[in-house]
Amino acid sequence: MKKTKKIIGFHSGHDCSYCIFKNGIPVTHNELERFSRKKEHLGDALEFLFQSNDEWEDVKYFSQVIDNWKGGFIKRYPDTAKRMFDIAKNNKGNFYYFGHHQTHAANAFYSSNFDEALIITIDAGGWDFKEHNPRSYFDYTDKDIMPTTFTISLGKGTKIERLHIKDINEFNIGATWNKCLEEIFGLSTGYPYGNQAGTVMAMACMGDGDKYFNDFKDTIHTKNIDTTKFRQIVKNGNEQDKFDIAAAIQKATEQKIKEQIDYYIKLHKPKNLCLAGGVSLNSVLIGKLYEWYDGIVENICVPPVPYDAGLSIGVCQILWHDERFMNQPRIKWNDNSPTYLGYTYHEDSINEELEKNKDKIRYKKVDDNFVADLLSKDNNVISVFGGGSESGRRALGNRSILADPRNDKMKDIINEKVKHRQWFRPFAPSILKEDVKEWFEYDINSPYMTTVIKFKKEKRDKVPAVVHFDGSARLQTVTKNDNKWYHSFISKFKQKTGVPIVLNTSFNDREPIVETPEHAINCFLGTNIDYLYFRDVNILIERI
Ligand SMILES: [Fe+2]
Repeated sequence: MKKTKKIIGFHSGHDCSYCIFKNGIPVTHNELERFSRKKEHLGDALEFLFQSNDEWEDVKYFSQVIDNWKGGFIKRYPDTAKRMFDIAKNNKGNFYYFGHHQTHAANAFYSSNFDEALIITIDAGGWDFKEHNPRSYFDYTDKDIMPTTFTISLGKGTKIERLHIKDINEFNIGATWNKCLEEIFGLSTGYPYGNQAGTVMAMACMGDGDKYFNDFKDTIHTKNIDTTKFRQIVKNGNEQDKFDIAAAIQKATEQKIKEQIDYYIKLHKPKNLCLAGGVSLNSVLIGKLYEWYDGIVENICVPPVPYDAGLSIGVCQILWHDERFMNQPRIKWNDNSPTYLGYTYHEDSINEELEKNKDKIRYKKVDDNFVADLLSKDNNVISVFGGGSESGRRALGNRSILADPRNDKMKDIINEKVKHRQWFRPFAPSILKEDVKEWFEYDINSPYMTTVIKFKKEKRDKVPAVVHFDGSARLQTVTKNDNKWYHSFISKFKQKTGVPIVLNTSFNDREPIVETPEHAINCFLGTNIDYLYFRDVNILIERI
């Protein structure tokens, strides 16, 4: 039998994560935050790996992105680094460093099904090799690297050619957003409460983007932006002022990014775009790309983990595909690259939790049909748990809270029962992929809930709980190949209601998405969610 080739990628620091590749395919991707229960947890990814039950002793290759000084992680975490080098040496393998944006770009492109694409990376900063086609180094010096927030590359087959890299001091939209979040809106930008840029995006849809546009249009990419004026406005003003400021920040961001990429779009006329880096979590911006480049760009891929926790996936992908390393052919995904890369929890661990909580809950065996029926009536809010947990920030049907999108009170009901979010934040729809063209203005692919586009006007009042104030939604498109259970469940809901859409929000209450059956029951008991459905074992739980 051919021996399995295993690679481990890891990312220490914030968004601490590791990823295991077998024969070029990601099979496990875990983020520390899901286990520590602190958002965007900082830590030593190797320690996290070595404490796991995964099989890593037979791994030959390890990789991660470069530090801002040579071998930084080795000095920071010497014991686990030594252990990693010992394993690699013992297995006659090696360790590799790749560039931060080089890795974001590879993760976006190799996770897509595109043979050719223009690749854009945007974030709040990472170190990368200056050279045009970065390879891997161990003995790099300060002269070889530079901090950057923005690159453009061209992907073709297994080759990725960098066209452009920007100096962090010239361009840093990610840092400006963080500054505005903290200083103007008093929001969090990372550990332990997570980055709350989504709140600003939601507010932006409610505001007049022109009112303060001139204040941001020339400074949105410079972290020297002066926030004093806006702090005062927010302090003394009303909610609409906040919305107008958010709208100006969003509009200036869109304009500045468009300015940067226009030239390359016109030059290369790419049918396919790939984006990664934290700023590509701006799902409104991703939707705008379809509008701006209508007639040129047909498909956009943002990978499941476009922010820094996805670097642990990207480094494995470079190592596997790049001709200077393992030189393996591209992988053709069945619809989309896999994203349910966390652990699956089996019947025993679920039963153990049921037993532990037997004085607080009652449960019964049901089938999916019964649950789809419950979902369609009585304002029910149902959490579902099953399969491997989702990689990335979005729950995509395996650790989700579901509700009926037809109910115009549902947003308030969910907020009251569990989520406690600001009234203006929208909830997202999961829709059968085959029905997107009938319900939305563009027939797009958005399997990881990365893109905001508008519902068709005539459909909006059919699903009021998932339509934002401007008619838009951040949709998840669902196929059988991506998630067989979820596709079948939404189909059952469609049979009953005529609507191929369910409201889907992550199964959590402000903390990271639930990971284990224990987290699921704790979250359920700590909130007023009506039912918890362990769908792998068809067990439906109610509170006593
Ligand atoms: Fe990044």
